[in-house]
Amino acid sequence: MKFADKHAPRSFDDLVIENEDIRRRLKQYADGIRSKHLLIYGPTGTGKSAAARVIMEARCGLECAEFIQSFEGSQFTVADFERMMTDWNWQLIKGAKIAVTVINEVDLLSAPLREKLKSFMDEKGHIGQIIATTNNLHALSVTMQRRFDKVELPTLTFDGCLERAQRILEAEGIEMSDGDLRYHFEDFEGELDDMASILEDIVLETSDQ
Ligand SMILES: Nc1ncnc2c1ncn2[C@@H]1O[C@H](COP(=O)(O)OP(=O)(O)OP(=O)(O)O)[C@@H](O)[C@H]1O
Ligand SMILES: [Mg+2]
Repeated sequence: MKFADKHAPRSFDDLVIENEDIRRRLKQYADGIRSKHLLIYGPTGTGKSAAARVIMEARCGLECAEFIQSFEGSQFTVADFERMMTDWNWQLIKGAKIAVTVINEVDLLSAPLREKLKSFMDEKGHIGQIIATTNNLHALSVTMQRRFDKVELPTLTFDGCLERAQRILEAEGIEMSDGDLRYHFEDFEGELDDMASILEDIVLETSDQ
């Protein structure tokens, strides 16, 4: 298994969300207190898709685990609206108050599919919630954006990632001071994929010694 997948976030507490207001808001979605359609936007690698998945999983619980899925905008077809409805019906049968589906990179949906998504959200919004992600907010029309509660996951800093990085190293049985870790993160530009690569290097270097 790839290092990044091995340490992909499993629960809300594993997410790196630096801004306290954003953390609180997204936690309310995970806890089912908020159920508007949600659009998580921001630069690449800030953990948007991971956050969307974790929120969806937290919302649905184990009973619904087989009926939730993350669609990719680039591969989305008209048949996926049917699949989404089937999932939603099962989620409701399994006791969900509001069903939920993730669509990643929603800006990559073709223009006709976007129009269809808008009507789907309007017509079925009372039974289910879409959690969408994008790293290209401006590619989405204002009318599309208006249907969502928009939440930004901006570029990450080393300090914001420090605790998560230490927890991953701990899981790998490695102890390192924050100062030494900072040195390894010298070239870090705020993408979680890079955090995984840096940590994997540390693990491999340590096992060589
Ligand atoms: N809190 C985290 N801890 C560890 N790894 C994480 C965390 N969040 C995300 N990752 C990993 O970092 C990588 C990038 O995360 P993700 O795909 O969620 O970013 P994204 O913002 O959706 O990127 P893009 O805009 O390119 O779609 C993935 O491999 C993911 O598993
Ligand atoms: Mg993504």
